[in-house]
Amino acid sequence: MNELKNDLLLRALLREPTERTPLWIMRQAGRYLPEYREVRAKAGDFMTVCRNPELACEVTMQPLRRYKLDAAILFSDILTVPDALGLGLYFETGEGPKFERPVRTASEISKLAVPDVSESLGYVFDAVRTIRKELDGQVPLIGFAGSPWTVGTYMVEGGSSRELKIIKGLAAEDPATLDKMLDTVARTTTEYLNAQVEAGAQAIMIFDTWGAALERDDYRRFSLDPMQKIVDGLTRERDGRRIPVILFTKGAGPLLTDMVGTGCDALGVDWTTDLADARKYVDDKVALQGNLDPATLRESPEIIRQGVADTLASYGKGPGHVFNLGHGITPDIDPEHLGVLVDAVHELSPQYHE
Ligand code: CP3
Repeated sequence: MNELKNDLLLRALLREPTERTPLWIMRQAGRYLPEYREVRAKAGDFMTVCRNPELACEVTMQPLRRYKLDAAILFSDILTVPDALGLGLYFETGEGPKFERPVRTASEISKLAVPDVSESLGYVFDAVRTIRKELDGQVPLIGFAGSPWTVGTYMVEGGSSRELKIIKGLAAEDPATLDKMLDTVARTTTEYLNAQVEAGAQAIMIFDTWGAALERDDYRRFSLDPMQKIVDGLTRERDGRRIPVILFTKGAGPLLTDMVGTGCDALGVDWTTDLADARKYVDDKVALQGNLDPATLRESPEIIRQGVADTLASYGKGPGHVFNLGHGITPDIDPEHLGVLVDAVHELSPQYHE
């Protein structure tokens, strides 16, 4: 494998010293970039881009050509896993993801079986290999998956849902069936992520967008425990280097204290928790990634720079911070505004690493 020319991200995720704070942006490849919209329009739709390794590689590289970012993230989606479980993922234009065959009853759930990921998700591993070749060691490549709970919300609800009525009903009325479904998703996800690592992913992130919609005991049972099973089963070293694992429960707040015990290397933090407080919650046992409000990118260059300065200051001095937004960049952002953010991190962060 090729030598890594910029390993700031991997070092920061392991809380090793770096000369500045590394950064990447959630959804850095996406609709705010005109060149992404062009590729997607030519391909026809989003999933066609995901399923074509050359196109997935092209859109993964696009933000790296524009900005001095310290990581690439695989272009794919968390819902490839339930698609491989046979639920039939599709996207309707202007709407979120949908499933042709949601699963809700004990009998539907008992029929779910861990698929052969090398077959059903082979296109993802091909994309990882293609991207690694194209990156040529420029920056590390992050692989990812959704948490079983977050993926499960889409599987049961049949698409995006604000209130999560059906899955919360299942959690209340038949929790053992829900456990079973989450376990199948967790086992599939473990194989899926290990195959991403095998193909060349150098760090792993698990996105738990909806875990904080649960009360704390339910969070532990339905969100944290299945993530824990994945972390326990992950390949943690490859080519003589540790593969850092990042867990991100959006809106976690004090739940961060529970997440530290999973054995992850880093935790993502959204903008509703101050990084100084997050650092106390985790007692400096893991690295932190975040957490500027994505809305700040709509503001003037001065306000964006101030937002970056405040985020860096709230983490404070020392290793273990990866700069990011608190959630994905939204499609309405002017790409030049992201440039202001990236330059500000490069300029303002070295003073925190003296
Ligand atoms: O960050 C990256 O650049 C990597 C790619 C990535 C995508 N989705 C591409 C995508 C990642 C890491 C995801 C994760 C994801 N997908 C999550 C967890 C993170 C989060 O945002 O909370 C979730 C919940 C999903 C499910 C999903 N995929 C939804 C709800 C939607 C529609 C709404 C939306 O934000 O567009 C998608 C579609 C999707 N996934 C797009 C992209 C670039 C937009 C598709 C398009 O081009 O129209």
